[in-house]
Amino acid sequence: MTSSTSLVQIEDIKKDYTLGETIVHALRGISFEIMEGEFLAILGQSGSGKTTLLNMLSALDVPTSGRVVVAGTDISNMSRDERTHFRRTSVGLVFQFYNLFPTLTALENVEIGIALDIKDKQELRRRASHYLELVGILDKATNYPSQMSGGEQQRVAIARGLAKQSPILILDEPTGNLDAETSDAIWALLKELNTKTGATIIAVTHQISVSRVADRSIFLRSGKVYGVSESNEEG
Ligand SMILES: Nc1ncnc2c1ncn2[C@@H]1O[C@H](COP(=O)(O)OP(=O)(O)OP(=O)(O)O)[C@@H](O)[C@H]1O
Ligand SMILES: [Mg+2]
Repeated sequence: MTSSTSLVQIEDIKKDYTLGETIVHALRGISFEIMEGEFLAILGQSGSGKTTLLNMLSALDVPTSGRVVVAGTDISNMSRDERTHFRRTSVGLVFQFYNLFPTLTALENVEIGIALDIKDKQELRRRASHYLELVGILDKATNYPSQMSGGEQQRVAIARGLAKQSPILILDEPTGNLDAETSDAIWALLKELNTKTGATIIAVTHQISVSRVADRSIFLRSGKVYGVSESNEEG
């Protein structure tokens, strides 16, 4: 549920990538804020800058200019170590291409995301299993990524992001590889966690239907915001 406290301020961020002789203007001046407890969807065509924007919000990368302030801290101006610490303590991340460790099982892939914070082995196993169960793949706990379907691997990545129980959850196209029914179940689960725990959720998606569970949707085009829509539903 959205509170009236502003959690994230994005101030005129631009991001250029240099590729040989060419400069790609991936973000061309983006500003908006995100409220504490908000469920925000980010939509836009392939190449519009969605992943680039998430990378700035999660401090995986820094903007070329502009600022991103999270809970009063300017994360666009941090050292690499500070950014690593910020990610570890403040955000749960679900990547577009899963980023699972091929030599670890599904369960171990979830455990490794929280192992620094949970020292007790049994508690670690219990927490990881719980989230595998929530995303419906506890029966694959001992499978390696190569022994799972794309959608199952995607759900391991979601479980890993959720298991951290971070105040901010950032997901990049978390249901891109799932069938409609499983996808709906995942969005419902995210909405439920958002409502129950008050976690702020920022999710990139191609599915316009997600706008219905989100409090607000932001539409990107060519590195700029070209539309914002508030959800009509109260809930
Ligand atoms: N590391 C990079 N080096 C050079 N160009 C990049 C790099 N990463 C992204 N780009 C370019 O920046 C633009 C935005 O890319 P981005 O990955 O943010 O798009 P996206 O909206 O996430 O697309 P998709 O829906 O396909 O995942 C694209 O033109 C892309 O080619
Ligand atoms: Mg992307």
